[in-house]
Amino acid sequence: SIVWQLLYSLRNDRVPLVFYWIPWLGSAIPYGMQPYEFFAQCQQKYGDCFSFLLLGKVMTVYLGPKGHEFILNAKLNDVSAEEAYTHLTTPVFGKGVIYDCPNWKLMEQKKFAKVALTKDSFIKYVPIIREEVLNYVNSDSQFRGKKGKVNVLKSQPEITIFTASRTLLGEEVRSMLNTGFAKLYSDLDKGFTPINFVFPNLPLPSYKRRDEAHNIISNTYMKLINKRKQENDIQDRDLVDALMKNSTYKDGTAMTEREIANLLIGVLMGGQHTSASTSSWFLLHLGERPDLQEELYNEIKSVLGDRKEVTYEDLQNLPLVNNTIKETLRLHMPLHSIFRKVMNPLQVPDSKMIVPKGHYVLVSPGFAMTNEKYFPNANTFEPHRWDVSQNAGSSDSDTVDYGFGTITKGVSSPYLPFGGGRHRCIGEQFAYTQLGTILVTFIQTFKWTSKLPKVDYSSMVTLPEEPAEIEWERRAD
Ligand code: HEM
Repeated sequence: SIVWQLLYSLRNDRVPLVFYWIPWLGSAIPYGMQPYEFFAQCQQKYGDCFSFLLLGKVMTVYLGPKGHEFILNAKLNDVSAEEAYTHLTTPVFGKGVIYDCPNWKLMEQKKFAKVALTKDSFIKYVPIIREEVLNYVNSDSQFRGKKGKVNVLKSQPEITIFTASRTLLGEEVRSMLNTGFAKLYSDLDKGFTPINFVFPNLPLPSYKRRDEAHNIISNTYMKLINKRKQENDIQDRDLVDALMKNSTYKDGTAMTEREIANLLIGVLMGGQHTSASTSSWFLLHLGERPDLQEELYNEIKSVLGDRKEVTYEDLQNLPLVNNTIKETLRLHMPLHSIFRKVMNPLQVPDSKMIVPKGHYVLVSPGFAMTNEKYFPNANTFEPHRWDVSQNAGSSDSDTVDYGFGTITKGVSSPYLPFGGGRHRCIGEQFAYTQLGTILVTFIQTFKWTSKLPKVDYSSMVTLPEEPAEIEWERRAD
């Protein structure tokens, strides 16, 4: 392996390779434990573009906005997301959807799903989300009494699944979550970890439970689809209705009921860990900033007056609420790495270096988002850094001036928590609506304190390390 590395490093048409001692494993340990520190160290030695070995695969990283553009806007024929992700996602989501189909189908599936992710839907979702959050904080055992402690790694995933299921999948599915059905979600979730990425299929009980959970959940959603069909009960309530009304591809073939059920699993999973991580982090950061909690409280009060029931329209008029979410996503982009498999030799821009077919490219907007070069005092949580946005709303300008610096819009922006290009997230507005309603409801109900935990990079999304607790107290009014 050392001889191979030496020979490789002599080729001037290759991206510099980070040296490693252990074959196959390569740089898995430093990358897996502290990806951003690892990238920073590599950047010092090799510059913005370097390759490293990760469990037998060569990963080429290109840091910074040029890398965002290079990888996220690479041509469809040159890089593939499905080849990079399908081992992990297909056993969980199921066949025929997301990365278990040609890219053109995924593009259409995203359009089908977007119908349930519009302003008109969000107007309906906000009161439902608020009701779910209130039910949770008034009935969960961690929220009993006037004050107490809550583990956000338990509460936030639950609040996320309850609110997303009730809005996107409807009341029938939501009510099943009060039963043994919830255990199936947890079994499926346990099949969605970095280990499953490396070893998609092992003869282990957790893999068997993952597959069983997938089958039962997918069958349950199919039954729901069939029931609505038989009763001729297709309205505009949720994502199930939206997909039942509109899921015929341009070539005239219709998605099967099985595929619709699997798409429901995939879309819900896409929003689950990402949103749960984000709300965990904003609760933990705000716990260290009682001043911000008071400012948020006053902002909400000044817009809602004596009303408590926040609406979708109110959410658009609460800049500090939205900037708190925006700043949380800057510091804690849930996905620290985005991958593609290289399908054709890919030239690194402005260089002679070629990334060969069969290698992978890795883009990490989270690295730029926590970098001093783009965000002064990058490690400080400061929602107010987003206050001054000169031309944020103007669509004819390519840049936005935030006072602390000018940021490019589009894929070459340093700020890309939702990715960019053809695989960009479709859930951004839903996430802001869900997270905004959760944040407003918490601020109206509680004051809290916390000590910020370190980051755990070892799960699918960047989570706080345990103990991740807030000490809460109910507000008097
Ligand atoms: C794609 C982030 C919430 C559904 C993505 C990608 C990112 C991302 C970075 C691009 C992945 C890639 O290029 O490989 C986030 C964050 C969220 C969030 C930070 C919340 C804070 C949601 C929600 C949904 C959702 C709520 C569904 C309602 C999807 C889907 C894709 C996607 C369907 C497309 C995958 C593709 O085209 O390959 N998300 N997401 N996400 N997300 Fe989200």
